Amino acid sequence: MRRADCSPTRSEMAPLAAILLALASLAAAAPSLSVRQAITSLSSAQISTFTPYSFYAAAGYCSPASTLAWNCGTNCVGANPNFHPIASGGDGDDVQFWFVGVDETLGTVIVSHQGTDPTQILSLVTDSDFFLGTLDPTLFPGVSSSVEVHSGFRDEQAKTATDVLTAVQTALSQFGIKKVTITGHSLGGAIALIDSVYLPLHITGVTFQTIVYGLPRVGNQAFANLASVGNTVTHINNKEDPVPILPGSFSASRMSLSDLIFQSGMFLGFHHPTGEIHIEDSGAWDACPGQDNESDLCSTGDVPTIFSGDTSDHDGPYNGVEMEC
Ligand SMILES: *[C@@H]1O[C@H](CO)[C@@H](O)[C@H](O)[C@H]1NC(C)=O
Repeated sequence: MRRADCSPTRSEMAPLAAILLALASLAAAAPSLSVRQAITSLSSAQISTFTPYSFYAAAGYCSPASTLAWNCGTNCVGANPNFHPIASGGDGDDVQFWFVGVDETLGTVIVSHQGTDPTQILSLVTDSDFFLGTLDPTLFPGVSSSVEVHSGFRDEQAKTATDVLTAVQTALSQFGIKKVTITGHSLGGAIALIDSVYLPLHITGVTFQTIVYGLPRVGNQAFANLASVGNTVTHINNKEDPVPILPGSFSASRMSLSDLIFQSGMFLGFHHPTGEIHIEDSGAWDACPGQDNESDLCSTGDVPTIFSGDTSDHDGPYNGVEMEC
């Protein structure tokens, strides 16, 4: 059947119809009562338990030679004196720095990945050359092909995956401990989150936890669900850092139509796992239930668009810790 040249086909109509449908359902779902009460603030003792891991994430920015010698200064030996390095790598250019070792005080193997500066991470998460793609079945045996991640983050994680795995196995067997903590900031947080799915596929009989900072959205709903299993992930977002709201999800309810169209990444359907902690302007650390919680106490609600973000919040401070070597 012929159609007039200017009239849209059914498939051309679909994106606009999807926007309108999404807006209508968001309007219908808008809560009439404040959800503030159910979001809980951490005690100062609870906040302090994260500090050693914040320093390990910051040390991810230090050169491999200095993390292997553990002589990289106040964010390394000054902050975590009982660390035994096992391996390190990366060149800080094509391959992000990483290191693996053991913290005997905390009783855990530490895996840390270097991040990147706000400009670079923003260009990674808004660059349309990247797409949601499946994971390499050799690295991720048995993971459903419905699980998709940002192709740029996927490729960065793949560059160091097997070296990190070998180092973690060495650390576990040398020290006889049963816990692995994966950490990182920014791009390093994204790599760490993919590691949190990768490492348990190859190592059994140990407990994993993942503590990351300034985490962008890494994958689709199936990936976010997989990364949420067991609630082992904590992702800590500082104030108006825009990185955690990028790339977009389908349901940022506070966006205007023009924001929706501008941030077309949302149609790709990126989602966060559970485990967000949002640092408020007051300095309070609030635990946000669910995935992409839209309360204004959480990143998705507090930073409705990239324009309302403040990139200077990306590096911290996270309870006093700046993400730098
Ligand atoms: C956000 O947190 C509130 C308060 O606990 C909760 O009622 C709501 O279900 C959460 N939203 C999501 C999307 O999980």
